[in-house]
Amino acid sequence: MSETKFTPRVFSGIQPSGGLTLGNYLGAIKRFVDMQNKGTFQTVYCMVDMHAITVWQDPARLRHNTRELAAGFIAAGLTPEKSILINQSQVPEHAQLAWIFNCVARMGWMGRMTQWKDKAGKDAEAASLGLFAYPALMAADILVYHATHVPVGEDQKQHLELTRDIAAKFNHDFGVDFFPMTEPVIEGAGMRVMSLRDGSKKMSKSDPSDASRINMTDDADAIAKKIRKAKTDPEPLPDTVAGLKDRPEARNLVNIYAALSDTTAEAVIAEHAGAQFGTFKPALADLAVARLAPISAEMSRLMADPAEIDRILARGAEQAREITAPILKKTYEIVGMVGA
Ligand code: TYM
Repeated sequence: MSETKFTPRVFSGIQPSGGLTLGNYLGAIKRFVDMQNKGTFQTVYCMVDMHAITVWQDPARLRHNTRELAAGFIAAGLTPEKSILINQSQVPEHAQLAWIFNCVARMGWMGRMTQWKDKAGKDAEAASLGLFAYPALMAADILVYHATHVPVGEDQKQHLELTRDIAAKFNHDFGVDFFPMTEPVIEGAGMRVMSLRDGSKKMSKSDPSDASRINMTDDADAIAKKIRKAKTDPEPLPDTVAGLKDRPEARNLVNIYAALSDTTAEAVIAEHAGAQFGTFKPALADLAVARLAPISAEMSRLMADPAEIDRILARGAEQAREITAPILKKTYEIVGMVGA
């Protein structure tokens, strides 16, 4: 399929299911800002509240977390002048296209998703139907914009492959060339930020240990303390990146340093080869505080005026629907729905 017929357009989303972590920032938001500022793409960024409710969310917390996520987006450098910023449930075409995709995707595809297996755990019978169908809604989020590029962290790779499978099956079943083959954009040192307590687990807002993650709302003392206490090994930093093999915790701190300073692990190693963690950790803590404290301060300032956040999201939804309504209408026509 020719990719050129589609406008270069970026879509990505984050669940407002808890606070933002450094993993969300380095794996996603920071790269959203880069793609916005490149100027080669139209950019659409979304708080996926309908994905969040696939597991129980307290309504007042969900409302708060959605606004706080919007504040995080803006504080990190996304601007409503350059990007369309939306809350998923305010653009109904996402859910409408998701239903069509529920009928295109196969049960077996969904059952193979590792996130489903992890989240449903041993008691899949008790999981919500929404949790199972989650990837079809994600495909709809992306394809209802005919998005060509989706920046995400590595943990979303499988969902993006499924998005391509859904697009291909729809195009094939209906004999059209309508949905694009979206390109995942998974790159840079921040694509896989690991827990500070266990280098084999990803940093996650749902980890029971707060010491395992840096939250975007942590103050300077908390950030420094968590980095000081991060699990490491007794060896100094090696003089090549290859020397980080089998040292997951050391590699994680080097990658975090690289992502925060917009460079590569190679460059960090070149600068800090032979350093003990006693000197590397304070340098990393200073860097993290310098990068994150202004964002966290700006988030608090924005959260003092939730009505302004709501206005930005309402305007974003209007702009988004100019794109999504015609694409949904055309989809309904292709499927054979009367009145489309
Ligand atoms: P979510 O809310 O779990 O995470 C949002 C983004 O943050 C990235 N991320 C990480 N990156 C690196 N290291 C980590 N430790 C880390 N933790 C999280 C994720 O990869 C993601 O990019 N299903 C998605 C939300 C979604 C979506 C979409 C994304 C819904 N619709 C359409 C893209 C396009 C999710 O649960 O992300």
